Amino acid sequence: MARKLHVAIIMDGNGRWASERGWPRLEGHRRGAATLRAIAEAAPGLGVGELTVYAFSSDNWKRPAEEVSGLMRLFAGYLESETRRCVEHGIRLRVEGRRDRLEAPLAAAIGRSEDSTAGGKRMTLRLAVDYSSRHAIAEAARRGKTPGAVPDVDLMIRTAGEQRLSDFLLWESAYAEFWFTRKTWPEFSVPDLELAISEFRLRVRKFGAIPAPHETRALDLDPRRDPLAAIAADS
Ligand code: FPP
Repeated sequence: MARKLHVAIIMDGNGRWASERGWPRLEGHRRGAATLRAIAEAAPGLGVGELTVYAFSSDNWKRPAEEVSGLMRLFAGYLESETRRCVEHGIRLRVEGRRDRLEAPLAAAIGRSEDSTAGGKRMTLRLAVDYSSRHAIAEAARRGKTPGAVPDVDLMIRTAGEQRLSDFLLWESAYAEFWFTRKTWPEFSVPDLELAISEFRLRVRKFGAIPAPHETRALDLDPRRDPLAAIAADS
């Protein structure tokens, strides 16, 4: 069986999705939370062993107070409703990022959810909240270490047509494969995740080395083949 994957997702476009419909931005985040539930529950069945999602970046504190407090309420509600579902689905829930700037009840709820779901064996769902990759790297370096809490990312997905990392898992994405879609996060669905994973499975990952011939053949990149002859043969 194929190795279980670490998929990371930058869930972008909630605000645009809502604004296009004349709805408040928070409605986009609510739909985004529903999308996350569906994706998290389907992911273990698609060979995902770790799913890390960018829920709130440390730069998101710059947003209007109303949106920030709405997002914090949404996280608290998500933990309340999803903890039991995570236990039922064998999902271990973890939160990555700073906790010292979160309100005490939210920080406490995170601790309770992590404890209750600690036995989940099918997948780890990691929510990045008040997360900054630069901060995590600098903190680890200050202690003479490298960041160790999150494993290397296999597949990085970003929705809503944007193609940047925005301070998310910079260290862990050293050899990640990237997959982008124009769909906003509320529009993203399980078939989209299936497509991303099936395209990922076709990629040749070299990690700086020269792939073995059996690894290159699938994509017709065998370095021993004369490229012009290969084009002639295919045409
Ligand atoms: C980016 O869209 C999204 C966020 C900043 C928040 C992500 C949050 C959720 C998906 C809510 C659910 C999460 C949990 C854990 C309950 P944007 O608002 O920047 O979109 P825009 O670029 O269209 O404005």
